[in-house]
Amino acid sequence: MKSRNPEKPLSTNPHLITWIDKMVVLCKPDRVHWVDGSQEEYDALCGQLVATGTFIRLNEKKWPGCFLARSDPSDVARVEDRTFICSLSKDSAGPTNNWVNPFEMKKTLRDLFSGCMRGRTMYVLPFSMGPLNSPMSRIGVELTDSAYVVVNMRIMARIGRPVIELIDKGDRRVVPCMHSVGAPLSPGQPDVPWPCNKDRKYIVHFPETREIWSYGSGYGGNALLGKKCFALRIASNIARDEGWMAEHMLILGVENPQGEKTYVTAAFPSACGKTNFAMLIPPKAFKGWKVWTVGDDIAWIKPGADGRLHAINPEAGFFGVAPGTSDKTNPNAMKSLARNSIFTNVALTPDGGPWWEGMTDEPPAECLDWQGRKWTPALARETGVKAAHPNARFTAPASQCPTIDPDWEKPEGVPISAFIFGGRRATTMPLVFQAFNWTHGVYVGATMGSEMTAAAAGTVGKVRRDPMAMLPFCGYHMGDYFGHWLEMQKIVRHLPAIFHVNWFRKDQDGKFLWPGFGENMRVLKWIVDRVRGRAAALKSPIGWVPGYEDIEWNGLSFTREQFAQVMAFDHEAWTKELADQEEFFQTLGDRLPKELVAERASLIGRL
Ligand code: OXD
Ligand code: MN
Repeated sequence: MKSRNPEKPLSTNPHLITWIDKMVVLCKPDRVHWVDGSQEEYDALCGQLVATGTFIRLNEKKWPGCFLARSDPSDVARVEDRTFICSLSKDSAGPTNNWVNPFEMKKTLRDLFSGCMRGRTMYVLPFSMGPLNSPMSRIGVELTDSAYVVVNMRIMARIGRPVIELIDKGDRRVVPCMHSVGAPLSPGQPDVPWPCNKDRKYIVHFPETREIWSYGSGYGGNALLGKKCFALRIASNIARDEGWMAEHMLILGVENPQGEKTYVTAAFPSACGKTNFAMLIPPKAFKGWKVWTVGDDIAWIKPGADGRLHAINPEAGFFGVAPGTSDKTNPNAMKSLARNSIFTNVALTPDGGPWWEGMTDEPPAECLDWQGRKWTPALARETGVKAAHPNARFTAPASQCPTIDPDWEKPEGVPISAFIFGGRRATTMPLVFQAFNWTHGVYVGATMGSEMTAAAAGTVGKVRRDPMAMLPFCGYHMGDYFGHWLEMQKIVRHLPAIFHVNWFRKDQDGKFLWPGFGENMRVLKWIVDRVRGRAAALKSPIGWVPGYEDIEWNGLSFTREQFAQVMAFDHEAWTKELADQEEFFQTLGDRLPKELVAERASLIGRL
């Protein structure tokens, strides 16, 4: 090691300094850098990433402050099979999580991390999930050997000096987060643009000690530890212990022409359109209606003094799926990412801009694909090769979103009137229905299914059960998680209503039955009107459903027959659905709350 810790620590907190010292001895970085979070530091790090080939600076005129990164082809998504919940007992992690005895795992990690930062800098990255002045926020410190992680985290969280000030007051618990790309450099060894460990990846959570250790990957949720690891897997444990909820949900506010604002959250699995829904632009016919964005991925939800649930977005940026995002599908996302953004695994156009499938009607005549190889539309037609990786991402500051809610950083959060569940389902699930009550709603969330997407390694298209969109993100036993949802009704006086939506139903020819995107406002309006007590509904076996007359159709020609098709209740499909749901419930054994068994029995009765 050239010098152990030449930089003066920014913090005076003795616990923090002792921990960092220990980790420096373990990881043996060449240098330690305390991240202050300043613009100058960000610019310098981006400059350094350009120099090392990790970043390409995009056309400054067209894409000011934007950079493009290409990951190693082996490091392109979250690795759920390498993600572990190492609680003291296997039973606490439950059957949906990978588990290893925590003492054994610590030993494995100590071996892996031993000398893992040789030749690199250890960045001390203090971050707050949630606004700095919010009582709902939580603090972590990530020690990482990736400058790419630092600059992405500066967009995704509040980082640096102001967080250290909070830590130094001494009354805030800090979640320690260890991260290494797992690629130490021997003296003189040249670095690669995207260092990672192709063979060994570990994304590990210790729920009891509230620790995160991530090794081998530099990509997204594997490496930006504030996001999935902290704000969902560790936070779900903290939330259960403290009586609140950490959920994989977007948060939006609907304002009607009278200025009345109603906030809802929605849980859809990864890459099912949460970002699009959070930034929805109402159709022209909805004059005076506005949708405000609070968050697009994660909600921390707590009972407030008014007896309602209040939500904050613990993040400060969007880590959105690029393919399919365009001025047509999501103009607000396009404006959010137009400057000061980082693009990972998108294509590069000859004039120095990013490009991905679906971004423009016409593809560029040629470009460099996400791996830097020449790509043309003809080549794509011949070989099916994509210019951007299907899980290519943009990292964009939330503050740049034109519809960012004026209250998005309100310390006490925004009051929530409805929870919406949904998945990507070609069959079975109607456009929308409302649960009969909270317990039924928990059942609806617990039995959610969705076709798999490219956000995680796995078989794209296969329906998997993804309860509350939390399957990859719940840091403890799913059965206990359902129990916690049911418990919430004992402590919350004014519970949100619960809905289920499906924008993705198809006809026999595989054509979508619902136009989606901005037209989803019609469903959202019905939801808002239901919770405000102004919309009618019909009783169906699966819940309350709108009649054709209950939806606002102004500006869209959508016939009664089309509506009947997208809302159709298919008895045979539901019989299969129930069997599939049962198969999932069986895996939870006796930790499945009895209330949900009863809900299932009632549903069978109604069918
Ligand atoms: C995400 C995900 O990145 O859910 O948000 O995969
Ligand atoms: Mn997500």
